[in-house]
Formats: sequence, C-alpha cells, structure tokens
Amino acid sequence: MMFAEELLDTLRQARHVVVFTGAGVSAESGIPTFRDRLDGLWSRLPPATLATTAAFRADPSLVWGWYQWRRTLVHRAQPNPAHRAIAELAGMVPQLTLITQNVDDLHERAGSQDVIHLHGQLERPRCFTCGREPGSPLPAPDEPQAGRHVIPPACEHCGGPLRPGVVWFGESLPADALSQAFHAAEQCDLLISVGTSGVVYPAAEIPQVAWRMRATVLHVNPQPGPLHGEREFALASAAGVALPALLDAAFAG
Ligand code: APR
Repeated sequence: MMFAEELLDTLRQARHVVVFTGAGVSAESGIPTFRDRLDGLWSRLPPATLATTAAFRADPSLVWGWYQWRRTLVHRAQPNPAHRAIAELAGMVPQLTLITQNVDDLHERAGSQDVIHLHGQLERPRCFTCGREPGSPLPAPDEPQAGRHVIPPACEHCGGPLRPGVVWFGESLPADALSQAFHAAEQCDLLISVGTSGVVYPAAEIPQVAWRMRATVLHVNPQPGPLHGEREFALASAAGVALPALLDAAFAG
C-alpha cells in the first residue's frame, strides 16, 4: 500500500492521536456490522424491535436473548490485526486516546487500555429497575441462537430484570465518556476513524470536531464517505490490512 508522505509525517510527529472506531474494526473478527448491505444486523432486524427501552419492556427475553447471542459471537471471536495495530500504536506515539462505538471487548483483549465506550459494553449489564450493576461478571453465554428468548437474570439488589449495558436508540450516551471523547477530539493532532459509517450522532460528530480544530483526519474504510479536502485522507481498505501497513510505513522504515 502507498501512503501520502504528508500523512506519514503527521503520524510520526503527532503528539496526541485519537483512534475512533466503529463496527467495521471488528468485521474481520467475524462480528457483523450494522449497516453493511449483506450481513448488517439491522438489515435483518430493525433496530426498533431490539435496541430500545420500549422493545425491552415489551419482551425482555427476546431482547436479552439477542444480546446474549451477540455476546456469544464476541466470545468466539478473536481480536484481528486492526485491533492489535491500534494497541501497538499506543506505544509508538506520546499520547493515544481510543474512542469506540463498539460494545464488544476486542480492543481490550488486543491490549488497548482506558478504552472510551460511547455506546456501552456488552459485559456491563445493569438492572432495568434500579440501575445498579451486578457484583460479579456475567457467566459466559450458553450459545443462544439469534432470536431465541432468554430470560434476563434478576438484579441481586432489587430483583428487577438485568438489561444489556448498551446505549439504546433514544437514550443518552454516558456523559463522562462523551465529554472525554470530545475533549480528546478537540486536542488531537491526528484522528484515525476506523470502520464507521458516520451516520449515528452524537458519536459521528467526533471526527468533524477534530477536523474543525485543525487536526488531520484519516478514514479507514473499504467504502469511505466524502472528504472535506485539505487535512483529510481515506484508505479504502479493510482495517486489518490498512492499519498494520500504515504503522510499518510510518515507523518501521
Ligand atoms: N475495515 C474497515 N471498515 C469496514 C470493514 C473493515 N474490514 N468492513 C466494513 N467496514 C465499514 C463499512 O463500510 C461501514 O462504513 O464499517 C462501517 C460499519 O458501519 P455501521 O455498520 O453503520 O457501524 P457503525 O458505524 O459502528 O454504527 C454506529 O450505530 O446501530 C448503531 O450503536 C450502533 O454503534 C453503532 C452505531
């Protein structure tokens, strides 16, 4: 792969790099994205039937079962070269902030630390009634099939049903995660956006904030969207190929 010298120099000289990821960074681990034409999760299951408070209230077992199925996919998956390159990059630049829209733990399993999860985490359920989290981690999912009903566990504090620890449509994002993410986007020299369609706000605003604050923005996506022009680049490639190649070109030479 060829990279613009301006991009490589910006990466080499960056004081603070932000990496902002979406479902595409986990695609090569076998985790379906949401909006990819062929296997996107939302192409088969409209989000409103599963990823809303109303959906959970209407049928807690269907929603809990669906998220247990997604936990199964993540448990079976391994971090891919993109996750690993992002973890390695943290040791190559003075400061790296990793912000993800993903609810899986593949960044952590690849070695990334202090990951900012804007949309919550599959492994952090909480009580639908009292909001408290269980005192111990969930057991590994017992391989439910997509769409199978699984009764959610009862809260150990109040007996209410546990709900997935993810942000549903219509819900607010965790305020501290969001403010940390916007602060990093405002301060960084380079923002690398990996595997996101950029259609869900407020998360989708983050690369735009970085660009407006004079940072360079790089989009890594086989189907990149439109670019502003100056200080913005796109690698129309799978993240598992592009990111290791980018680190080699910038730092291995
Ligand atoms: N490498 C890089 N990008 C990829 C790869 C890959 N191997 N495979 C697919 N992509 C790109 C697709 O081209 C697409 O632009 O990843 C993007 C995935 O987009 P979405 O499925 O919309 O996922 P995302 O952007 O993370 O969605 C944002 O929407 O449904 C909500 O809460 C959910 O966090 C999610 C949010």
